[in-house]
Amino acid sequence: MLEKAKHLLQPSARSAVPPFMAMDVMAAASRLEAQGRRITHMEVGQPASGAPATAIAAARAALSSARLGYTETLGMMSLRQRIARAYAEWRGIDVDPARIVVTTGSSAGFTLSFLAAFEPGDRVAVALPGYPPYRHILAALGCEPVGIETSASTRWAIDGGSLLAHHRANPLKGVVVASPANPSGTMMTTSALAELIRCAEDAGIIVISDEIYHGLDYAFTAECAARISSDVIIVNSFSKYFCMTGWRVGWMVVPPPLVRAVERLQQNLAISVPTLSQMAAEAAFDGRAELEAVRRGYEENRRTLLEGLPRVGLDSFLPADGAFYLYADISRYSTDSFAFATRLLEEAGVAVTPGIDFDPLRGGNFVRLCYAGAREEMQEAIERIGDWLKKGRI
Ligand SMILES: Cc1ncc(COP(=O)(O)O)c(C=O)c1O
Repeated sequence: MLEKAKHLLQPSARSAVPPFMAMDVMAAASRLEAQGRRITHMEVGQPASGAPATAIAAARAALSSARLGYTETLGMMSLRQRIARAYAEWRGIDVDPARIVVTTGSSAGFTLSFLAAFEPGDRVAVALPGYPPYRHILAALGCEPVGIETSASTRWAIDGGSLLAHHRANPLKGVVVASPANPSGTMMTTSALAELIRCAEDAGIIVISDEIYHGLDYAFTAECAARISSDVIIVNSFSKYFCMTGWRVGWMVVPPPLVRAVERLQQNLAISVPTLSQMAAEAAFDGRAELEAVRRGYEENRRTLLEGLPRVGLDSFLPADGAFYLYADISRYSTDSFAFATRLLEEAGVAVTPGIDFDPLRGGNFVRLCYAGAREEMQEAIERIGDWLKKGRI
């Protein structure tokens, strides 16, 4: 390539976001599989099951009969109404379909929320440990992610006190919360969420609530921010409870003053969300019995790991209230979770995600295990991890 072209094609400074390591681990695991190794996958947070049969049937029917052109930018009205109906029937919450925006997974919901609510340079609080793309998307958009270290004293969530302390030191414009959270699976109680929302809104801080793991709660029912305030931006998805990661469809519940801004942004960024996926998503609501059976499988996997892993030497986890993750403290073996995860993959054939993906400060002491896989894989993971730790190879 010509020197001139090399110079011209320098990636922008804003594109220099860190990689999402879970995906890098998945790629390394696939390389080993291609060499014939059998790998137990616990690295990527996605259900082993596919979309419910109702969704597949709707997609099949649409392929043979529907034109599958663009839809309205805010999403098919029938899907927005079906989502609103689910809030009413499943949670007893009245949500106006006019506030519901269908998105390309919750990932697009973050980009739209951040663009609609924040200016470049705005400071937005995120919990550490926390889902890395919050920080990376904010940074790519020119906002400043402000990591707030959480601890057992606040049940590993940002609380009003720590939010306001950061705000007083240097004003915040927003805060992202998630309950159940990724990587820990830990949930906020209703009173903790309500208190955080009250503190934030009193201080003029916009709250974005990532509710992607709702429906996957085992310790108690996850509270929906819509019950607490209509000023919160809610982001949700068909990826996790509905087992539709690859269909790339999610939704937002948007405060009325921001709906038109989100619509204008999505018109320009995406035009609309894939029509086939929207049709399948609408039908997925009718597959609840199947989805509840999948959820019971996660509960069983969670029990198997929480009983089995302590017996082989991994015995300290953040409260595993929901989602499908265990965030395991490995500090008695290593404070370099990347090296730990690399060797666990190469030597024991178990793929997990290093904690430094989720918490640049203390993540060296943790790894995340996803238990959304098949039941037999949980037992296999316990045995493989146990043998590896016993051999003392770390
Ligand atoms: C906490 C959290 N939010 C959002 C996402 C993005 O999911 P999607 O774009 O598939 O809806 C994930 C994916 O793992 C996640 O764990």
